Amino acid sequence: MSEGRIPSRASANGLDKVVAAETALSSVDGEAGRLVIAGYDLEELVATHDFEAATALLWRVAGREPAPSADSLRAQLGEARVMAFRLVPHLLASTKGLTVTEGLRAGLALLSDDGDLAPEIRAVGAVPVFVAALCRREKGEPAVAPVPHHGHAADFLRMLRGEPASAAEIDALNAYLVTVTDHGMNASTFTARVIASTRAGMISSVVGALCALKGPLHGGAPGPVLDMLDAIGTRDNIAPWLKREIAKGERLMGFGHRVYKVRDPRADVFNKAVTLLTNGNERVLFARDVERGALAALREAKPDQRLDTNMEYYTAVLLEALGIPRSAVTAVFCLSRVAGWTAHVMEQERVGRLIRPQSVYVGEWPNDEAAA
Ligand code: CMC
Repeated sequence: MSEGRIPSRASANGLDKVVAAETALSSVDGEAGRLVIAGYDLEELVATHDFEAATALLWRVAGREPAPSADSLRAQLGEARVMAFRLVPHLLASTKGLTVTEGLRAGLALLSDDGDLAPEIRAVGAVPVFVAALCRREKGEPAVAPVPHHGHAADFLRMLRGEPASAAEIDALNAYLVTVTDHGMNASTFTARVIASTRAGMISSVVGALCALKGPLHGGAPGPVLDMLDAIGTRDNIAPWLKREIAKGERLMGFGHRVYKVRDPRADVFNKAVTLLTNGNERVLFARDVERGALAALREAKPDQRLDTNMEYYTAVLLEALGIPRSAVTAVFCLSRVAGWTAHVMEQERVGRLIRPQSVYVGEWPNDEAAA
């Protein structure tokens, strides 16, 4: 696109429809509501892979050498969790007063670019350890050490609660983690690739990606979704509350997507997982009623927009059912998405070309040039 000839300021500023990379990691079809990850349709991937197997698959597709198997990765991630736990006292001492996501950002920045284990393994292994310790600190409880031979999802829930989770809970968390491992050129993945393209390395790319994930327009929406459910409170209040918020110009969290113009397929995976886990309890039924109300309210208020449920809506309900504190939902998103980020960094490093786009200057020109 030549300078000055841009379709609209909004789409230029948002890089809408701009292709920024070739990737073999995932494909998002926003019109069909289809997500393919490393050759698998989402539902098939979730049915056949746990988090370690999905991560090993992404890294193999990204061309990592040596290509990991799910079992070798399981062992290495256990080792990485143990290593990360040694940093926990320092992390907790240096992040007093910070939120869980801010603490995680600091924790990832503590990781060295060099070490015995590859940086991608150390990064993926560190996230559950740091998130669990930071969550427990919020309740005034001491950190719980990892058990290296446990699965990643099971060990996270155990470190978080101080006691083992049930098989159903571990399955539900694995369904969540596998589903959100990768999702095309979303803002945090793009950030990771931009940083990787400067050859700053894996850890810097992951830290930068988390910074992008943190915002409410990307990974920060589930907390506000739960706030919305609480604020609505009763079924009688659904329609008036939603109408009032939309009239004030507020966005309904968990709805709308830059790419999906139909329902986000990940929302269905989470809806199914939370229904299985809770046997469709009152909170889930209420969330479904609010969803129906929100879709109707958005259709009425914004008939020209194609706004549907995105994955953050049922992420919120699922993670709440798993006992994940509201303050930690974005950090738990990172627990999974770090697998995709690291795979994209590997892909980008193989491309080897600096990402350096151009901008359109809309400021003042020096007087003599304006007059000319
Ligand atoms: N509630 C109310 N109105 C909305 C919403 C919403 N959730 N989303 C978009 N709109 C309206 C927006 O106000 C605008 O209307 P108008 O033209 O009348 O001003 C129109 O739809 C287009 O909005 P946009 O900002 O140009 O659309 P976008 O492609 O930049 O938006 C989005 C994508 C996710 C930022 C947006 O839908 C949003 O803010 N949603 C709420 C936050 C949320 O759920 N975030 C999680 C995203 S999914 C996780 C992920 O994949 O990262």
